[in-house]
Amino acid sequence: MPPPDTPTPAEKDDRWREAVLTAGLAVFDWDVAARRIWRSPEMLAAWDYPEGPNDAVDGAKAVLHPDDYPLFQARMTEIEAGSLERATLEIRMRSREGAWRWIRWRARVVARGENGRPARVVGTVNDIDELWKGRDLARESQMRLQGIVDSAMDAIISVDDAQRITLFNRAAERIFGYEPLEVLGQPLEMLIPARFHREHHGHVEAFGRTGVSSRPMMAQRIVTAVRKGGEEFPIDASISQNEIRGHRFYTVILRDVSLRERTRRELAQAREDLRELSVASRTAREQENSRISRELHDELGQNLTSLKMDLAWLEANTAPEQGRIRQTLAGMRTVLDSTVAATRRISADLRPLMLDDLGLAAALEWLAEETSRRHGFTVDLAVDEASANLSEPLASQAYRIVQESLTNAGRHAAAGKVRVMLRTIGTEVHLDIEDDGRGLAPEDLRKKGSFGLVGIRERVYTLAGSVEIRGAPGHGTVIHVRLPIPARREGDA
Ligand SMILES: Nc1ncnc2c1ncn2[C@@H]1O[C@H](COP(=O)(O)OP(=O)(O)OP(=O)(O)O)[C@@H](O)[C@H]1O
Ligand SMILES: [Mg+2]
Repeated sequence: MPPPDTPTPAEKDDRWREAVLTAGLAVFDWDVAARRIWRSPEMLAAWDYPEGPNDAVDGAKAVLHPDDYPLFQARMTEIEAGSLERATLEIRMRSREGAWRWIRWRARVVARGENGRPARVVGTVNDIDELWKGRDLARESQMRLQGIVDSAMDAIISVDDAQRITLFNRAAERIFGYEPLEVLGQPLEMLIPARFHREHHGHVEAFGRTGVSSRPMMAQRIVTAVRKGGEEFPIDASISQNEIRGHRFYTVILRDVSLRERTRRELAQAREDLRELSVASRTAREQENSRISRELHDELGQNLTSLKMDLAWLEANTAPEQGRIRQTLAGMRTVLDSTVAATRRISADLRPLMLDDLGLAAALEWLAEETSRRHGFTVDLAVDEASANLSEPLASQAYRIVQESLTNAGRHAAAGKVRVMLRTIGTEVHLDIEDDGRGLAPEDLRKKGSFGLVGIRERVYTLAGSVEIRGAPGHGTVIHVRLPIPARREGDA
């Protein structure tokens, strides 16, 4: 006798159906011998399965995708024949809305007849369309991402939270010289010179703590990486971080900037060479000028002076009645005087010997006097003590800048007054020249065929200084120059 709570087969069947209805499952129950099929309401609701009793296999033909039906039919026939115990198929079925949807169809023989043939087959139908679509989408976006990552010109490297490499794109292979198999799963540190390991670790951890999603790596600074062969090279890198299910991972995008860095260094070197060359050539010219100027002054000047003395003697010793001779001698004296003056002027223009003999302040004073006499404006000159005896090449260059500025004030400004101020402030010389003339216009700074202001800028540039030239119409012109004073080297006088 069965225990009192053992259900009868009919009760069992009822409970099973109740369970199916309660769970809301899409279930079918197929009575093979009777060729009848029971379908749960969910199955009827979701699928366009013909209603009423019908043959499971034939009935399904109306709702299954024609491409999938043969497979379904084959499996069902095997089950029906008793050669297959259970089957799982992923096939397309038409929904009530008329669209094909992927389903997972499962069937299992649950009872056999006396002849051993299946009597009852039970199964479920699960809609896996969303799942598949999601999987397709994920695969598609994965492929698209892969395409982007692989075609990128920059190296792209991802690491997990233990800083092991999880992604290494083609550009990274090219730049670092590793095959992906050599680096995947390896610590990122294999791409960084050993002496930077500790620093690098700290940076990444600090970045992790910030929670910022991306930023350039050590902004403004070139980071160093190391190739497979051990060669170090500079890179520009930016890092981003993401968190997926509690795991943080970092992606670094980097670029080999060796070439750029080399070009930058070469350019800077070329500029520096050019500057030095320019300083050297100006110094050489000043020295040459100085030599010629001294020659004119000493040699020619001396000779002219002795000629003048001889002439005076001749004049004194010529009888008053020698009218013609005296007239000629007077004419000679006039020519001689103007020759002496011209010699002085040419000599001073070449290079004021005062600059070498008495220093910058004295030379500027003479220049101020000369120009105000020549152009008819007053020059207010102020030179502080520290700047009075500036060393070369600063003294010559400052002198030339003032000379050009005063000449300009005379030629273009119609100025009444020019102020010249030379001061030493810290490790710089500040030179200001201000006139109260008509004021230069911005376009004057780029006047074709004018080289005065260009020359000032060039002199300043070769001394690594800075210059500002400003004019206000009707309110004069200001030239402000700053020149660094070179540090005195050991052994300098
Ligand atoms: N102090 C000034 N006031 C007004 N205009 C000025 C002054 N200095 C220069 N300029 C204007 O700027 C122009 C350029 O000056 P710059 O000294 O470069 O050349 P320049 O004096 O014309 O010729 P040079 O090559 O002989 O010096 C001048 O032609 C003039 O128009
Ligand atoms: Mg000029």
